[in-house]
Amino acid sequence: ENNRVPMVAGNWKMNGDRSLVSQFSNELKTQQLSCTVVICPPSIYLPLFSNHDFSLGGQNVSHLDNGAHTGELSVAMLKDAGCSHVIVGHSERRESQHESSELVAKKAAQAIEQGLVPIVCVGEPLSVREQQTVEAFIGDQIKALTDLLSVEALKRCVIAYEPIWAIGTGKTATPQQAQEVHAFIRQTLNENAQGVGDSISLLYGGSVKADNAKELFSQPDVDGGLIGGASLKLEDFIAICQAAN
Ligand code: G3P
Repeated sequence: ENNRVPMVAGNWKMNGDRSLVSQFSNELKTQQLSCTVVICPPSIYLPLFSNHDFSLGGQNVSHLDNGAHTGELSVAMLKDAGCSHVIVGHSERRESQHESSELVAKKAAQAIEQGLVPIVCVGEPLSVREQQTVEAFIGDQIKALTDLLSVEALKRCVIAYEPIWAIGTGKTATPQQAQEVHAFIRQTLNENAQGVGDSISLLYGGSVKADNAKELFSQPDVDGGLIGGASLKLEDFIAICQAAN
């Protein structure tokens, strides 16, 4: 037993439009759900959500304050647009934008300092899994966070484990594989940051669907999910949220 509140976050990635925003605003009613529900649409759509009872998150944020940084978005702006959360360090950005674990940690620190909950993504590529060096790889990604953030700051993070080989591939980690890495992350945080591991929420991401969510979320160290493809279909997303209750 623990006090961690289950969470399901939908990462729309570069998908969706005004009509999907209206559908979710009007039809996603979360009162009957006991998990925290966060929708992370493309930032331009954030202000279009109206009368929703779920939380909103950005998909990325700058580690810098407002200023001369063309094309970037600040924590202040995401908050102004209604966000309480922000995804940082998604593997798609680590790869395409060459985001290092140090930069990801700076983004998480900026989010916390200014009052957003960062959902920090970690996860290994297939080659690392095949070489059986998953713990060393994930350990380094977590170390960048524990090196920069205080224990108090770390307590306010959510961490999402997203094995890269499971993202958008339909190839989900088995519940056992997810549990193993989640337990490792929790233990690493406990060791490096005074028991933080026990208090923070750890989400699994990578081909979570309505029909596999329950088994994944019922693992002792899996507190919910970060959902890509299935977060774009309202019915599937609701079913996944129900699986986290
Ligand atoms: O951030 C969520 C994500 O990367 C998982 O995507 O489509 O495999 O659920 P998907």
